[in-house]
Amino acid sequence: MTYARIVGTGSYLPPRVMTNDEFAARLDTSDAWIRSRTGIAQRHIAGKSQASSDLALEASSRALEASGLKASQIDLIIVATSTPDYIFPSTACLLQAKLGVKGCPAFDVQAVCSGFVYGLATADALIRSGQYKTALVVGAEVFSRILDWNDRGTCVLFGDGAGAVVLAAASAPGIHASVLHADGSQVDLLSVPGNVCGGAIVGSPFLQMNGQGVFKFAVRVLEEVARETVAAAGMSMAQVDWLIPHQANVRILEATARKLGLPAEKLVVTVDHHGNTSAASVPLALDEFVCAGRIRPGHRVLMEGVGGGFTWGASLATL
Ligand code: UT7
Repeated sequence: MTYARIVGTGSYLPPRVMTNDEFAARLDTSDAWIRSRTGIAQRHIAGKSQASSDLALEASSRALEASGLKASQIDLIIVATSTPDYIFPSTACLLQAKLGVKGCPAFDVQAVCSGFVYGLATADALIRSGQYKTALVVGAEVFSRILDWNDRGTCVLFGDGAGAVVLAAASAPGIHASVLHADGSQVDLLSVPGNVCGGAIVGSPFLQMNGQGVFKFAVRVLEEVARETVAAAGMSMAQVDWLIPHQANVRILEATARKLGLPAEKLVVTVDHHGNTSAASVPLALDEFVCAGRIRPGHRVLMEGVGGGFTWGASLATL
C-alpha cells in the first residue's frame, strides 16, 4: 500500500509588519477592539512588486530544502490561492517557471481558506493512486490586494504570506484521511463578487463578508469535519497531538478546540502574528511549529480549512 508523507515544510512572510495601531490611526477602530474580537496583533503585508507566485517561490524553496529534494524531482505542483498573479496562466505554472523546472503538471486550487487542505487531499489521492511519487503543495496569498482598506469590519483581519509542503510516496502514513465539503448555497457569506469584462471591473473587487454568519458556520463545520476525519482514519480525538485549524480568529480556534475536547496546549495559534492568510494559514502555522521543534516527527497533526464557497475540510497526518 502506498501513502503520501509530508517530508518537508517551508513558509515565507513578507518583511513589512503592520500593527493594529496603524489601522487605529486612520479608521474608527483600536488595538484593543481588534485584539479582543479576533486575537490579531499584527499581520505581514506584501511589497508592491511581490505577487503570490513570489511568496510561493520562497516558501517552496524552503520546503524543498527541508525535504532534501530538488525541484526537478517534483512530479506535481498544486498552488492554493484566491489571489492569483493573473486570471491565467495559473500561479502554479508561474511558480513552476520560477523554480526553473518544466514538464510536471501544475495547477491552482480555488477553495479560498480551505484551499490548502483541498490541495493536500488532491495530492495525497494522486500519490496513493501510484500516478506520482512526489508533490509540492503550496498556499500563497496577497489578500491585502482585495481588501477595502476603509472597511474596518474586514481590512483588519487579513495578512499576506505563503506556506508549502513537499509530499513523497511512503509505505506507511503519512496522511491517514482527508474529508472535503462544500455548500455553494452559502456564497453570500464571504465573497469577492467582481470580475473583469470588456476591459473593466464588473461588480466589486473587494472582499465582502457577513462576519457573524461566517463565525457561526466556521465553528460548526470545523468541529464536524474534525470528527469525520478522525473517524475516517480509524482513530480517536485523544490520538491527535496538534490541531491546526484555519487561522481566522482566535475565538473560532479556541471554540473549536473546546468543542473537540482538545486542551489548549494542542491548539496551534499563529493568527495573532500572521492575521488570516487564507489558503496560506495552515501551512504557515505548520512550518512555524515544525521549525520551532514543537511539531516533531511522529506527531499526529489535524489540519482544517474553512472559507468562501462555502468550503471546508480536514486532513489528519503523521509527520
Ligand atoms: O477565513 C474566514 C474569514 N472570515 C472570518 O473569519 C470572520 C469571522 N467573523 C469574525 O471574526 C467576527 O465576526 C468579526 C471579528 C468579523 C466581528 O466580530 P463580532 O464580535 O462578530 O462583531 P460584530 O460584527 O457583531 O460587530 C460589533 C460591533 C459593530 O458595531 P455596532 O453595530 O455594534 O455599533 C461593528 O460595526 O463592532 C463594530 N466593528 C468594529 N469596531 C471597531 C466591526 N469591526 C470593527 C473594528 N473596530 N475593526
